[in-house]
This record gives sequence, structure tokens and C-alpha cells, in this order.
Amino acid sequence: MTRESWTTRTGFILAAVGSAVGLGNVWRFPWMTAENGGSAFLLVYLALVLAVGVPGLLAEFVIGRRSRRNPVGALASLSDSDRWGVVGLLPVVTTVLLLSFYSVVGGWILRYLVASASGAYFDAPGPYFESVSFGPAAVGYHAVFLLLTAGIVLAGVRKGIELATKVMMPAIAALLVGLAAWAATLPGAAGGFEYFLAFDLGYLRANFASVLGAALGQALFTLSVGAGTMITYASYLGEDRSLPADGATIAVLNTLVGVVAGLVVFPLLFAGDLPVGGSGPGALFVSLASAFATLPGGRVVAVVFFAVMTLAALSSSISMLELPVAYLADEHGVARRDATAGLSALFLVLGAVNALRPAVFDFVASTLVDLLLAAGLLAFLLFAGWVLGRDAVEEFREGAGSLGDALATPWLFVVGVALPVFLIFTVITGVLGIAGVSLGTGAVVGLTAAAALAAFAALRRAGSVV
Ligand code: PHE
Repeated sequence: MTRESWTTRTGFILAAVGSAVGLGNVWRFPWMTAENGGSAFLLVYLALVLAVGVPGLLAEFVIGRRSRRNPVGALASLSDSDRWGVVGLLPVVTTVLLLSFYSVVGGWILRYLVASASGAYFDAPGPYFESVSFGPAAVGYHAVFLLLTAGIVLAGVRKGIELATKVMMPAIAALLVGLAAWAATLPGAAGGFEYFLAFDLGYLRANFASVLGAALGQALFTLSVGAGTMITYASYLGEDRSLPADGATIAVLNTLVGVVAGLVVFPLLFAGDLPVGGSGPGALFVSLASAFATLPGGRVVAVVFFAVMTLAALSSSISMLELPVAYLADEHGVARRDATAGLSALFLVLGAVNALRPAVFDFVASTLVDLLLAAGLLAFLLFAGWVLGRDAVEEFREGAGSLGDALATPWLFVVGVALPVFLIFTVITGVLGIAGVSLGTGAVVGLTAAAALAAFAALRRAGSVV
């Protein structure tokens, strides 16, 4: 079977931006912001996108382009060891879990698109969300969202993913800017801007460990880093693209969309005089629905808003489905059609569990996903830094001109040493935080350094370090 590739460089960039721009920017971001002290969160999150997200994204690009395989095949073939292939199964698990809750939220959005047009939630937004969010109806909408996703993936890399994102991304950008312009005219918009943008350093100081963990999870989630989707997308690349230039473009566009989405969402919440502090996955739906129900022209704006969210969600969900499809096609010779159909059946069931059990949904959507993304990224970083080593530098520089020459070696250090230590530190403090244990920072730093060293030593013993 010949493997497909992107038609154009823009096609790849738009597909990757499509994967990045999604519910993470519009729905999960305000939810996480509200749970973590408002604007204090934004600052840490932006710093982490730059310091962790971008180098991590480039590690995935390097692995993907060099191997031209899905994550399992990529790690196995580049290392000549099946043991790394087993590590490569982690992203398969991650994307399966991701899509199983993401598709449920995608279903909520479709439902709200329809309900905005009919005004179904206008009288009682709170009870409406309660009645539709979990249960048989949620399973139905999840199934529709999944079908749309599968339809695009079924059409292939060029005729499906590339074509769809080429249409969707400009539409999302244009509509979102229009929504932000409208939101700025709302009474109370200033309060929304302030909540979003006035950095609350006091909160940050008091809750540093938990904010750090949540911001890291969000930075990875929003850039689609740590899940292996970017390995998969880069595996359809030719040699002539500059990975650092493409990575920077993707990160900038994704961040812009995130900030503009914030400029839409927060003024809306404040215009409705609604409690922004209300957190949890449903808060945004309830609060926004209340705002749409009371504001003049709310119905039309609501339809536009949920249409944007539908496009954003689909352009991400296709990347989640593409990874296991590519895995089955590359490694087991399964035809795209059969792989897509079989996986969709699996997602139908897993999504239904999420749509019927709020506790499962909550755990998967926040804690579990954060941990899996961090673990996946750690594996990719160690792989690029220690298994590929010099080859990673070579791949990084390929097609990247003087920018590549200047950045390749510092990037390898960041990827092989600085970020693994930081990730281990953050995950340990995060897990301890969840468990309610409070340890001195010093002890945690010590633990972290020890764990990082042990990991490196183990790799060295396994003979996979250059
Ligand atoms: N980045 C996507 C979003 O913001 C979510 C995603 C995560 C997609 C990981 C693929 C892989 O919605």
C-alpha cells in the first residue's frame, strides 16, 4: 500500500492548526482558567506553550517526518527495537481515550447548534443542560459527531483531512473575529477582559503547584502535543519543509485563536452577569446559553458560535481518529475503510460510557488526559533526545536553512534534558497535589532529579543511548 502525503505545505499547516484549534481553545480553556484563579492561569499557560509546547511539537515532527510511520511504527523502526514499539502504543491508547470523551462534547455542541436555532434552552438554560448532557440523548448526538468525524477520515489524508481543514480553518478565523468584535460591544465586556487579562499574581503565588500542573496539561492539550497526532500528521510530510518554521506558525495561530476565543467567551459571561467562577465541564454551556438567551440578537450569535465550535471540534477529532487508523494501516495492513469502520464502532461504545457516566467523563477529560499527554510527551522527548540524538539534529535541520542550524543543538538539549526533568517534576507535584499530600518543594525537586537520572541511566543500560 502506498502511503499518502499532503499536497501542499499550507495543507499540512492548516491540518495541524486544525488539530490544535479545538474545544481546548474554546471550551476547556475557560473551564481551566476559571478553576485556576482566572488570569493567573493565562500567564503560566502562555509561558508553557512557548517553553514546552513548541519544542515538544518539534520533537513529534522530527519523529514523524523521519519515520513516515504512525507512532508505533515510528518508534519501533527508528530505534530498531520492538520495545519502543510498545511505548508507541501509549499514543494509541491516549487518542482512543481522548476521542471517547471529545466526541461526547462534540455531541453537546451539535445539540446546542440545533437548540440555538430553535430556542429550546432559552427559558431554562441550567435545567436544559442537565437534561441533555448525560444520558441516552447525549449518546445519540455523540454518535452523529463521530459519524461526521469518520466520514472525513474515510476520505483519506488529501481528500478528507487536507480538504476539510482548508475550508474549515479560514471559516473559523473569520467567524471568531466577527464574534469578538460583537462581544466587545456588550455591556460589561470590560469586566470580562479584566478577568481574562489582568494577571493575578497573588493567586499564582499561593497555588503555584496546582496552577502549574493544570497549565501544563492545558498547554499540551491545546497544541495537540503528547498524543502522537502530530507525529502522525508529520509522517505525511516531504523533506522540503522547515519544521521549526512550521511549528512556530502552528503555535502562533493556535494561541491567537485561543486568545480571540477568550475575548469572545469572557465578555459574554460578564455581559450576562453570570458567575464565571462556576466551574466544571458544563459551566460554559450553561453560562453562555444564559447569555445568548438574554442578549439582543442572541439567537443568531448563538448559532454562529456553535457553528464555529462544531468546525473547531471536527478539525481536531479527525486527527485523533487518524492516528489509530494510520496504526492499523501501517502496521497491520488494514484498509483505511475497514480501520475507520472498526474504530468507529469501538468509539461508539467508549463514548457511550462517557455520555452515560459523568464521573467517568470528568476523570477522563481532565486528570487522565493531562497525565497521558505528559507521559506521552516524556516518551517522545527521551526518544528524540537519547535514541535519535544526532539523527534528530539532522532531521531538525533538513529544509530549515540557517534557522535550523542555529536552533537544532539548543533544541536537542531542551528536549533531551531540560524538559524531561521539568515534566517529571510537574507530574510528581501534580499527582501529590491531587492526593492531597503537601511536601516541601525541596524534597520534590530532589525526587524529580533522582527519577530523571534513573530514567536516563536505565536507557543507557538498555543500550539505546547514542
Ligand atoms: N488540541 C485539541 C483541542 O484543543 C485537542 C487535541 C489534543 C487534539 C490532543 C489532538 C490531540 O481541542
